[in-house]
Amino acid sequence: MTLSSTAYRRVARPVLFRMAKGDPEAVHHRTLSALRTASRSSLALRAMAGIRRRHPSPRSVFGVDFPSVVGLAAGMDKDGVALKAWPALGFGHVEVGTVTAHAQPGNPKPRLFRLPASEAIVNRMGFNNAGAEALAGRLALTGRIGVPLGISLGKSKVTSVNDAVGDYLTSLRAVYSYADYIAVNVSSPNTPGLRSLQDRAPLDELLAALTAEAGSLAWSAQSDGRQRRPVPVLVKIAPDLTDQAIGDLLEVCVDRGIAGLIATNTTLSRPGIAPAERAKADEAGGLSGRPLHARSVEVVRFVTDHCDLPVIGVGGISSAADGLRMLDAGASLLQLYTGFIFGGPPLLTSLNKAIAAR
Ligand code: FNR
Repeated sequence: MTLSSTAYRRVARPVLFRMAKGDPEAVHHRTLSALRTASRSSLALRAMAGIRRRHPSPRSVFGVDFPSVVGLAAGMDKDGVALKAWPALGFGHVEVGTVTAHAQPGNPKPRLFRLPASEAIVNRMGFNNAGAEALAGRLALTGRIGVPLGISLGKSKVTSVNDAVGDYLTSLRAVYSYADYIAVNVSSPNTPGLRSLQDRAPLDELLAALTAEAGSLAWSAQSDGRQRRPVPVLVKIAPDLTDQAIGDLLEVCVDRGIAGLIATNTTLSRPGIAPAERAKADEAGGLSGRPLHARSVEVVRFVTDHCDLPVIGVGGISSAADGLRMLDAGASLLQLYTGFIFGGPPLLTSLNKAIAAR
């Protein structure tokens, strides 16, 4: 038995969206809390895995083996509280975080706005997270989750942009041994100054430090006298960069031995909003979901046209056709966030099915 897309949209989603008086962030926490409970019960995990059909699409990308193409994007399970539930739902990798060196509460609420008619979200969460050390502790207790685990790192709000390198390094050292890949988030619009780290000189300094540290952590982790390959480091980019800025960024990434790109984060622009939701869309923050899709595809195509680095395509994937379009633009893997909020597990199943059938 599988949950159909119509049943999800007509029955499950309205119930979910009306929970907690419709407060989107409270709904998010309640859902995560249910998934956290499920992820601790092998019976619940087996039941979840049992009601979906498997559609594997194995890929080896930047030296990591993925059982299927579609993963969970950063920000959904920032602190890794429901880790084992995601593979049971059908995700082929999970990116946790963004975490920062210091635990931090994020921006004042409200900071998450649903735009259902536009199938979009505006958020200005501001990296609310329990900190990299806390994540490392949780990952140590959880153990392997059966699919690759990416860990997204950002800059703490209390750390100035000039001191960003040390802040990222602290997080890298804390979580390194649990990661199948590291995502360097320099593209969230909700931490003042963060996006300036995409500029050539600061990016070069940051990536030089992170790749060197990944190399020495790989060396010190090896116990059998053989050199171990460093964990791949990826860079997540904004959709709001010009072609020139993306070109500069790619040069730095290639020079510094970056393993791949994640394109894209949320946008500061406001394309494709339903008229009734224009006022809500004016809330400060990053826009995700259907209106972002065309631009994310364009950025993925630009990156794959201009360098050989593999790309994880993310942004507004709301149907199987959207996922195939992102793959046709050159993406090696995909991630979902907003589409999963509106389309639920049936979207993931239809994506997995369409990709496996190719
Ligand atoms: C995000 N996203 C995000 N990205 C990131 O690298 N670190 C993060 O902490 C977050 N946090 C976050 C919170 C919320 C509420 C949303 C909606 C999004 C961005 C996300 O991973 C993704 O890149 C974009 O949302 C675009 O994909 P979708 O949502 O259109 O599928």
